[in-house]
Amino acid sequence: MTAQIIDGTALSHQIRSQVAREAAALTAQGAQPGLAVILVGEDPASAVYVRNKVKACREHGLHSVLEQYPADMAEADLLARIAALNADPAIHGILVQMPLPKHLDPHKVIEAIATEKDVDGFSVQSAGELMSGLPGLRPATPFGCMKLIESTGVSLKGKHAVVIGRSNTVGKPMALLLLQANATVTICHSGTPDLAVHTRQADIVVAAVGRRNTLTADMVKPGAIVIDVGINRNEQGKLCGDVDFASVKEVAGHLTPVPGGVGPMTIAMLLVNTLEAARAAAA
Ligand code: GUN
Repeated sequence: MTAQIIDGTALSHQIRSQVAREAAALTAQGAQPGLAVILVGEDPASAVYVRNKVKACREHGLHSVLEQYPADMAEADLLARIAALNADPAIHGILVQMPLPKHLDPHKVIEAIATEKDVDGFSVQSAGELMSGLPGLRPATPFGCMKLIESTGVSLKGKHAVVIGRSNTVGKPMALLLLQANATVTICHSGTPDLAVHTRQADIVVAAVGRRNTLTADMVKPGAIVIDVGINRNEQGKLCGDVDFASVKEVAGHLTPVPGGVGPMTIAMLLVNTLEAARAAAA
């Protein structure tokens, strides 16, 4: 079997176009969606990510502001900026790029963002809403993974999904979203003794550990849907995921590539969340 490659770039473009149409309608009502992105420090990868987020907003008719601060910014000053953005009616989403410099407490910073503007879905309130099955803003990466899975047309009901990774930003919310879609969910992690025992039973595998070749062909049930969240580099410096793409594509039914799979969906879902936040504010 050769897997169907799930084209995250194409799906993200469809979603972005829909966002642009809906953003234009809100703008016409005087409620243009607005996103504020805060970057503290000079981490080059973070600088690229935030630039792409702001650029995506501009290209799709959303208002966006990028606030960049030096790495030694005082925590009180950052909290004051967040408070000002919480009170700004032109801003519906606030994203503080992670990781933060060590002297800044990420929990304190995330909790300072008004829940209705928490477009990352990282706050305790947003996480609790997801846990409780209440409406709310969902973390963009797992939200994007759900859209990629949905795009296969395969129903999750009664299926066994295995999530590899237990981060607050991907693994845990991913498991909850799959559960909400009526899958039977197993969460594996670095302390799981025999990963393959679990993944071989899975109809859906989401790999989110940040280590290449975590999932190889012998670990995959024929026909499974495999979603690769990893962003790593191989020995040649080439971008690769957590999945051994070349071998797994011979076994899986559907597979996301890296790049061009989950990555483009993350920004698309951030736009969706900003739109949702703006819509809720206008209601
Ligand atoms: N750093 C890497 N990914 C993310 C993300 O999705 N949101 C934030 N705030 N920081 C990140």
